[in-house]
Amino acid sequence: MSTSELKARLAERIEALSGVSAKDIYDWFETPPEAHMGDLALPCFRLSRAMRQAPQKIAEHLIERIGDSIPEVRSYEAVSGYLNVFYDRVWLARTVMEKAIEEGETPGRPTIGEGQTALIEFSSPNVAKEFHVGHAFTTLLGQAIANLYDYSGYRVVRMNHIGDYGTQFGNLIVAWKRWGDETALEREPIKELQRVYVKFHREQENDPELEIEGRAAFVRLENGDPETTALWQKFRKLSLDVFNVTYDRLGIHFDNTNGESFYSDKIPGLMTWLQSKDLLTLSEGAVVVDLEEYKLPPCLLIKSDGTTIYASRDLASILWRDETYDFDLNVYVVGLPQSHHFKQVFAVMHKAGFKKADRLKHVGFGTVMFGDQMFSTREGNTIPLSELLNESVAKTKSIIVENNPDMPPAEAQDTAEKIGISAVVYTFLRNGREKDIHFSWEDVLDFEGDSAPYLLYTLARCHSIRQKAKEHGMENRASFTAAHAEALADDEAVAVLKLIDGFGKAIELSVTQFEPSIVVRHTMTLARAFNKFYQNHSILHAEEDAVKEARLFLLDAVINTMSAGIKLAGMQIVERM
Ligand code: ARG
Repeated sequence: MSTSELKARLAERIEALSGVSAKDIYDWFETPPEAHMGDLALPCFRLSRAMRQAPQKIAEHLIERIGDSIPEVRSYEAVSGYLNVFYDRVWLARTVMEKAIEEGETPGRPTIGEGQTALIEFSSPNVAKEFHVGHAFTTLLGQAIANLYDYSGYRVVRMNHIGDYGTQFGNLIVAWKRWGDETALEREPIKELQRVYVKFHREQENDPELEIEGRAAFVRLENGDPETTALWQKFRKLSLDVFNVTYDRLGIHFDNTNGESFYSDKIPGLMTWLQSKDLLTLSEGAVVVDLEEYKLPPCLLIKSDGTTIYASRDLASILWRDETYDFDLNVYVVGLPQSHHFKQVFAVMHKAGFKKADRLKHVGFGTVMFGDQMFSTREGNTIPLSELLNESVAKTKSIIVENNPDMPPAEAQDTAEKIGISAVVYTFLRNGREKDIHFSWEDVLDFEGDSAPYLLYTLARCHSIRQKAKEHGMENRASFTAAHAEALADDEAVAVLKLIDGFGKAIELSVTQFEPSIVVRHTMTLARAFNKFYQNHSILHAEEDAVKEARLFLLDAVINTMSAGIKLAGMQIVERM
């Protein structure tokens, strides 16, 4: 019996005693924050109506009636209207460890996604623009969400909706033709494209002609004019090459990188479809969908000059995605400032009777702020992600070199790259995604704090214990026995066991709430619990063989669970640091 089966069994017993459905009772069980409050707790006020008694009385009554009919429970307590349940610890050790051993390197894998397809769109940077920290947030968050969905059995399609289209490309083409420098473009493409683009906007103030030219260039692009298209292609390719360096470094790949441009020729089909639903209205020469019944302003689809816009491309892409992937879920990991845009787009789909309108999901996130002056650029806002990563790696490297003067330089570099990148990833994922991030290097690289270095260091230490055990010939252990289970019944081991046991649930919650922070925090709590265990209990020097073996079993489960958490978040493991 697993812990969740035990919970179900308890719920059934209480159903028989209270008349309340076992399913409700199962869901009402809480996991108390502290061990002395039990392993499970039922807030009995939930049963007050059915049982017509005060919560405390209900708890006492239930304890009396359940008696010792469930051998996996060591004891019960009625405290402040709660029924606290304490597991039999030897049973707990056995059930958790047997499951952990069976699951090996894929602990707690949920099956909630089986047979379903989830499109996870994330990153989506803009061509010719810096890949800045806002895109860092969607990139790291989206990657973690995609990993978690994948782990839970979904067929995941990682989509990158590159911003490679729109009037601004007309402007960019005009700017380039006037002021572009070919050598600079080859050396630092994004810098050069940004330079001419900024110049365009500056000059435009005195020269209204420019705007007209820019529009005309975009119309030429929409009409497939060869010269304009070739230039645009070139800018696109150069930008993607730059983005790909960062993706490679982060271990990110996409299954689909259709940019916005891909949907341009699908707009007529979209318009026909919306027309057939009688949704299109003309408003001052522009084509819009009225959304009054959704309490939203009209969604603009075609501008009065006949060009398409961001929203029309998003709408066309939903139809294309459905035809191509027959998705069960279509997720957009995009900053909160675009909530309104997605509300409008989803409302249009709903109004058009699209059958999967409720499976379109915008997953928003907060803003990134820097306490460190170093990162406020002269223009004030864009900090390229690559620079942030470089800075983190360089700072990590100096810490590593200081702590390990003997580490060969190549290893120090490689280790710093992994830890430095993971430190940034962790900082983006450790809190709920809608919270703003206040970036400070002290926190990011605090080896003892709430940081990736702490997490990775704990795992590296586990690996080194494992390695030493191997050197001492403690490798081929027989199966997990009752004697081993008895050796894991102390407070600190139980705390670790419970976290190993709860890992699957943490993943499931991360998936359903699009919230990798849940699994990240769980992994961190496990690291802290393991360190506490290790402070109080030697593994290699335990006196009895059974105890030593049992702790090595536990160590393996910790390694497997922590490694899974770290990888799912998109961090990188170092075995030595
Ligand atoms: N490229 C856009 C930006 O940087 C984000 C695209 C979001 N995705 C979408 N399907 N609209 O703001």
